[in-house]
Amino acid sequence: MSGILILAQEEYISSFRKEPDELIKEMEEYAKEHNIPILYWQSAEFIEHLVKIKDPKRVLELGTAIGYTTIRIARVLKGKSVIHTVEKSQDNIALAKQFISKSGMENKIKLLEGEAVNVMPQLKKKYDLIFLDTDKEDYRRLLDYSLVLLKRGGMIVVDNLLWHGYAASSSVPEKYKESTQHIRKFNKIFMKQPNLKSSIIPVGDGLGIGIKE
Ligand SMILES: C[S@@+](CC[C@H](N)C(=O)[O-])C[C@H]1O[C@@H](n2cnc3c(N)ncnc32)[C@H](O)[C@@H]1O
Repeated sequence: MSGILILAQEEYISSFRKEPDELIKEMEEYAKEHNIPILYWQSAEFIEHLVKIKDPKRVLELGTAIGYTTIRIARVLKGKSVIHTVEKSQDNIALAKQFISKSGMENKIKLLEGEAVNVMPQLKKKYDLIFLDTDKEDYRRLLDYSLVLLKRGGMIVVDNLLWHGYAASSSVPEKYKESTQHIRKFNKIFMKQPNLKSSIIPVGDGLGIGIKE
């Protein structure tokens, strides 16, 4: 199991994908070659649609990696809207800086270096959209912080909620057992969160979408 769709569906959807531009292609290839997890392109497109519909003024991403989704979101933000993105790995920070510079989107993106639990309490202004995509064991704590930083009517998007299909599977390989437990526990909390209208959407690796009431 790797994706949540059967291969035929995956291939069918992919057959409609428009050729991405050079930078996006380079980033996808770099991530694949160096085994750095980035968002599925289907989820990235879906988030771009959400950003275009919602027109957020302030976006917060937790887990930048090489800046793939950061740049994709920055490109569709309107006017003076900005994205802040938090990353703890020095290696990924260096890579993200290079790609962000290449994208020419530096004026829209602020990279915040450090552990999200340390960075988030220092953020004073609230956000219209938060994208949670860190280590899975951090999700529960970071959801709490995110709900404080999210405006009423704001949207939280969380990646990997179907976790390669294992969240809903009775057969989970040893390597994925612990992370699957984290995701299952998180999903219960996310779906029962008071003041959050939440859903899990089967796109990419499963996206959680929540609107703060
Ligand atoms: C799945 S990747 C993020 C992919 C990126 N959001 C994208 O869409 O391309 C997870 C990243 O989050 C970083 N990370 C994980 N836990 C973190 C935490 N608690 N605080 C800050 N960064 C974290 C990892 O170093 C890694 O670069």
